[in-house]
Amino acid sequence: MDRIEIVEVGPRDGLQNIPQFVPTDTKVALIRALIAAGIKRMEIGSFVSPKAIPQMRDMEDVVARLGSLPGVRGMALVPNAQGAKRALGAGVTDIEFVISMSDAHNMSNVRRPTRASIDDLAATLAEIDPGRHMKLRIGLATSFHCPFAGTMDENHVLGTIERIVALREGFELALSDTTGMALPTHVKSLASKAIKTFGRQATFTFHGHDTAGFGIANVLAGIDAGIRSFDGSVGGLGGCPFAPGATGNIATEDMVYLFQRMGIDTGIDLPKLLDAGDIAVALPGAVTGSHARRIPRDRLFDHGAAYTARVA
Ligand code: COA
Ligand code: ZN
Repeated sequence: MDRIEIVEVGPRDGLQNIPQFVPTDTKVALIRALIAAGIKRMEIGSFVSPKAIPQMRDMEDVVARLGSLPGVRGMALVPNAQGAKRALGAGVTDIEFVISMSDAHNMSNVRRPTRASIDDLAATLAEIDPGRHMKLRIGLATSFHCPFAGTMDENHVLGTIERIVALREGFELALSDTTGMALPTHVKSLASKAIKTFGRQATFTFHGHDTAGFGIANVLAGIDAGIRSFDGSVGGLGGCPFAPGATGNIATEDMVYLFQRMGIDTGIDLPKLLDAGDIAVALPGAVTGSHARRIPRDRLFDHGAAYTARVA
């Protein structure tokens, strides 16, 4: 393995958990700084109810101000057909439709049981994308652990994935540790079974949080299972306001730093990524969680180079 894809989710997962409104200009500046660091795929926000997440109420303006992003795939999270219509209307064709594997979290997040969200997805496909123009990713929230129901049963999750995969071939499915409580053994087990069972109809990625401190271990467990695309949030910001107890995403800096030291290409420039992170962590109300950011920058690079030279 010589290459891993990192999908930046800071402008969505990172910002949605910040109570203070982040001005549109700052959101656009953060996204541009991430692109300057080499990010090629990114969740730029979500088209959700402004009552549910007031932070995302300016999405149409964010997209308009960004303009076209050559070589970059900007993705938006949606909870229903109305969100998908808004995203398409704004010019976004990479859509992430969120469905929780746990009924209790789906009720808290989008105010309906899981099966109703699967019906909404089916209706969205039929109603607004019969021509298959959207690039669709399904965010499988609470694939491992639910803040209300606890550890998720693997067979229940696989059964729910089966119903989603039956709707259309070619989905990307993000196995998501929404609460950041999953064990690496659990990530490896579920990801292996999902790839073995559905790997011909769909591709799988991993979206992790770092609440319990197992984030990077979970990424490595995902790699063992065959996953090659991972979500990260710059500065380690993030969290779902409807998942009590969850802290930030696995920091993008931590993954880039790890992969750099392991000699695996991500296409991302770490110094420029740290610069983008400076914008994120300075936001009022931001809670940061990156390990790499705690290391002084000169040591970060010196140590990495020296270590790589020693083990090469
Ligand atoms: N974008 C903007 N407004 C939306 C919307 C969307 N995607 N979906 C629904 N609405 C509006 C409706 O127009 C309606 O507005 P009105 O009161 O002015 O008539 C209102 O929201 C209620 O619509 P309803 O379909 O009854 O939604 P709800 O109140 O049951 O809420 C969701 C359901 C899914 C819209 C809401 O829970 C939500 O946006 N959740 C997202 C949560 C999230 O982002 N979590 C973090 C990411 S995983
Ligand atoms: Zn998340």
